[in-house]
Amino acid sequence: MFETEKKIAASEAIKYVKSNIKIGLGTGSTTKFFLDSLGELIKDGTLKNITGVPTSKKTEEIAESYGIKIENNLDNIEIDFDGADEYDIYGNLIKGGGGALVREKIVAYNSKNVYIMVDESKFSEKLHNFPLPVEVIPFMEDITKNNIEKLGGKCSFRNNKKFISDNGNYIIDCKFDYTDVAYEEKIKMIPGVVEVGIFKNMATKIFEGKNNKCNVINIKKS
Ligand code: 5RP
Repeated sequence: MFETEKKIAASEAIKYVKSNIKIGLGTGSTTKFFLDSLGELIKDGTLKNITGVPTSKKTEEIAESYGIKIENNLDNIEIDFDGADEYDIYGNLIKGGGGALVREKIVAYNSKNVYIMVDESKFSEKLHNFPLPVEVIPFMEDITKNNIEKLGGKCSFRNNKKFISDNGNYIIDCKFDYTDVAYEEKIKMIPGVVEVGIFKNMATKIFEGKNNKCNVINIKKS
């Protein structure tokens, strides 16, 4: 769904990649379009010496196959390129639909710029569509889930606990009437929680594929 819009967003974002740059590499189908284009530009010699910090094992495999130098080191990441599951007018994001939220947040936090590529279906005036992904330690995880539910949401283990993150943890998807960004801190305080898929104030640009063109939204830092 929205493949064309995803491709359009990725092909606009890639214009910011120059030779000899170190970038963060997100996870998901939109990032895959970005990686495919990057692979083409490396292959035809347009771009040289690209170093990438991958946010998942899957992305690492793809990037390596395209001749991107892999580094697991957070120094001097110029731009992190990633997708999102939902975004609002302030550039707040819900992420983790692909289960890579922990590494995605580490890389985004440590990057000078965070460029998010999305199709228009991901926009919401108030975050409420996509269930909030929360990564939890596999120990007393049912108690952790109950504690998150005390905030008023309805939670379920992704794929009945069959989905295991790259870090060996479970993902709980939490449906709230409205995902207030203040839940980030509240949920992180619950023992057993590793990370929450709310990315507040992290995006610096959003590339929004819409009606066959790309809107580039610059986010003002608060
Ligand atoms: C993975 C993510 C992805 O960026 C998010 O799920 C968007 O994916 P897609 O580009 O496939 O719609 O957060 O953990």
